[in-house]
Amino acid sequence: MIRKCVYSSCASIDTIITGDDRVANNNKILITYESGTESTEKLAQVIAEGIRKVEGVSVDLKRARDVTPEDAVSANGYAFGTHSASMYMEGELRILFEKLSPVKDKLSGKPVLLFTTGQGGQDAALVSLDKIVGVLNPHWIKPGMAIKGMPGEADKVKAIEMGEKLADAVTKIKSKYIVA
Ligand SMILES: Cc1cc2nc3c(=O)[nH]c(=O)nc-3n(C[C@H](O)[C@H](O)[C@H](O)COP(=O)(O)O)c2cc1C
Repeated sequence: MIRKCVYSSCASIDTIITGDDRVANNNKILITYESGTESTEKLAQVIAEGIRKVEGVSVDLKRARDVTPEDAVSANGYAFGTHSASMYMEGELRILFEKLSPVKDKLSGKPVLLFTTGQGGQDAALVSLDKIVGVLNPHWIKPGMAIKGMPGEADKVKAIEMGEKLADAVTKIKSKYIVA
């Protein structure tokens, strides 16, 4: 049997675990990204590989333009990725955050990993993501990844490690507030 946390101190984290709906999702992580020439998409796919190594955690991989507020609300953790565009996040990702603004309370406090690629502007793009996602008061999974161009072998190893770390955090946060 699974029941919701009943302690009064848990009220403030009700947006993290809201009970049966979240349980039914069985620890789903949403990876959403924008990518023109597939470097960022490849990084997203490798992070997904890492997530899938953790038992009981599933992953949805979607381009930012295809994400609905319902997709975001129903996930227990996130990885947001973009290529650098004029030293900033790509436009579709910025539009997504505007679209999610009305439901931001339902996203807050959950684990978040950020990742970017660029040709020198990857760190600037990461900073732009960090600022916009920061309003969600996330449980940060750091360091975020900022990769030059297509991810190489060492980047892939790190991306798998970070995916696992994100998935682990999702399971731990959940088990902290829901008792069997
Ligand atoms: C419109 C546009 C603007 C870009 N602006 C930057 C930039 O400001 N700084 C940078 O380092 N790279 C910039 N790039 C290059 C991409 O960020 C970089 O090649 C990235 O790795 C491509 O990722 P993708 O394969 O996922 O599209 C830009 C690319 C495009 C298409």
